[in-house]
Amino acid sequence: MNTAHTKPDGISEEEYLELAKKVQNSPWRQSYHIQPVTGLLNDPNGLAWYNGFYHLFYQWFPFGPVHGTKYWYHLRSKDLIFWEDLGIGLAPDQNFDSHGVYSGSSMKKDGLLYLFYTGNHRDDNWVRHSSQCLAVMDEEGRIQKETTPLIPKPPDGITEHFRDPKVWKGENGYLMITGAQKISQTGTALIYQSADLKRWEYRGELSVPWKTKAFMWECPDYFEADGYGILMMCPQGLETEESGNSNIYEAGYLIGNPMNEDTLTFDGNQYEKLDYGFDFYAPQTFLDHLGRRILFGWMGLPEISYPTDRYGWAHCLTIPRELTIADGRIRLNPVKEMELLRSELVCETIFIDEESYRDVRFYGRHYELMVQLIKQNAGIFEISVRQNKQEQTVIRYSSKDQMICVDRSASGEAFAKDYGSLRKAGLKSGLKELRIFSDESSLEIFVNQGEVCFSLRIFPQESGIETVFTAREGSVKAAIQKWNLKV
Ligand code: FRU
Repeated sequence: MNTAHTKPDGISEEEYLELAKKVQNSPWRQSYHIQPVTGLLNDPNGLAWYNGFYHLFYQWFPFGPVHGTKYWYHLRSKDLIFWEDLGIGLAPDQNFDSHGVYSGSSMKKDGLLYLFYTGNHRDDNWVRHSSQCLAVMDEEGRIQKETTPLIPKPPDGITEHFRDPKVWKGENGYLMITGAQKISQTGTALIYQSADLKRWEYRGELSVPWKTKAFMWECPDYFEADGYGILMMCPQGLETEESGNSNIYEAGYLIGNPMNEDTLTFDGNQYEKLDYGFDFYAPQTFLDHLGRRILFGWMGLPEISYPTDRYGWAHCLTIPRELTIADGRIRLNPVKEMELLRSELVCETIFIDEESYRDVRFYGRHYELMVQLIKQNAGIFEISVRQNKQEQTVIRYSSKDQMICVDRSASGEAFAKDYGSLRKAGLKSGLKELRIFSDESSLEIFVNQGEVCFSLRIFPQESGIETVFTAREGSVKAAIQKWNLKV
C-alpha cells in the first residue's frame, strides 16, 4: 500500500500502515461505496465537475472512528463510479483551522476551482471560533490556501456555530449560504454576497416562513430546479412531531418559489425529509457538465457508535444520486452510471400466493435488485434481504395504509438502538417498483423511482445472502432483475 499521499502529519509511516491494515482486515468493508482508508468519514464537500473530472472531497479524521480534527480527503473520477484516490486535499495546518477544516463547497471561476470551507479553531480556553475560508485548486491539482479567512467571524447576534458555506451564482453576483445559530439558540441560514469570490459582504439572515425549534441548521444548500427554489439543510433538534421518524438528526428540504435575492426571502414552507432511512446526513448537491443535479450524502449520523468503530473506521458516502423534481417534490434516483457496475443478470417473473417464496438465484451481498410489480393485491408484501437463519432486513409494504417500512431489528449486529429499528414512509399511489442496492454493510432502497428512498447501514454476517419474498392476504406478481455488481 502506498500511503505517501494519504498519510497525515503527526504519525509515523509504520503506525499509519498499522492503522490501515487493521481497517483493511475489517469485516463490513464496502465494495463500491466511498469509505475512509482509516478513521472516520463524514460530510461530502466541494463537489464539482472541473477540468474533465468529477471532484469529491469528504470530511476525514484519519486517526480513529471519532470526530476529531477534520481534513478534506480528495478523490476524482470520470464517471462518478470509479474513483482515483488523491489523498489529503486540505489539512488543518493554519491557526484559524487548527481544530478542523470543516465542511464547504466549491465554485469554478477563471479556470480555477475555489474551495470554501469553515475554519474551526479552539482557543486556549477551548472556546470555538468559526471563520469562512478559501483554498484554490488549479488545473494541475495544486491546492493553495488563502492565509487569512474570507469571513473572520460570525455577524452580530450569531453564535460560533457558524459553518458549512455553500456558494452559487445568483442574479447579481455570487451568493453564499451558511448554517448558523442565533444567540437565542435557534437555527438559521445566513447569506453573503460577492462579485469576485474573495470579498464577501454580509447580506443578512434568510427569511423563511417555516417555523421550527431546531437549534442549529447544518450544511445548507440552496439551488433552483424546474422553476422552484429549494433549500436543503440539516436542522438539528427537530421535535418528534416535526419529524415523524426518530433519527438523532436528519436532512430535509423546503421547496417554494425561487428566493428573492433583494429581500432575502424564501417562501418554502413545507418541510420534507430527503431520505426516510436510518443513516443519511449532510447531503450536498452540484450541477454537472450534463446539466444534472447530483447529490451525495453521508451514510451515517453524528453522535452514534457504529460496529466498525472497533476496527478503526466508520462510515461511507451514499451512491451518487440524481436529483429531479416531480409533483413539487424532490426525487432521488441512482445516477445512470451505476449501470457500469452491473455484471451477471438473473431475471424472472415470480408469482407469490399466500406464502414465502425463497429464490436462491437472487442471493448475494453486492447487488442491485429491481422489483417491478405487475399485479399487487396482497395486504402485505415483504422482501427480506441479506437473510440467514438468524438475520434479515425486511422491506414491508402494507396496502391498507399504503405505507412502506424498513425493519432492521434483526439485520445483524445492533447499534443506534435508542432510535428504534423501524422507518416508514407513505406512498401516494401504492407500491410499483423497488430498486435496492446492497453492499457489504449498507442498503439503499429507491421506491417508485425516487418517490421515497431509504439509506441504511446494516452489519450482518457474511452468510446473510438470501432473499425471500412473501405475500399475505392476496398475491403478488413481479418481474425481478438482479445484477451482481462488480467490486
Ligand atoms: C455535519 C458537520 C458540519 C461540520 C462538519 C464537521 O456533519 O457537523 O456542520 O462542518 O460536520 O466535520
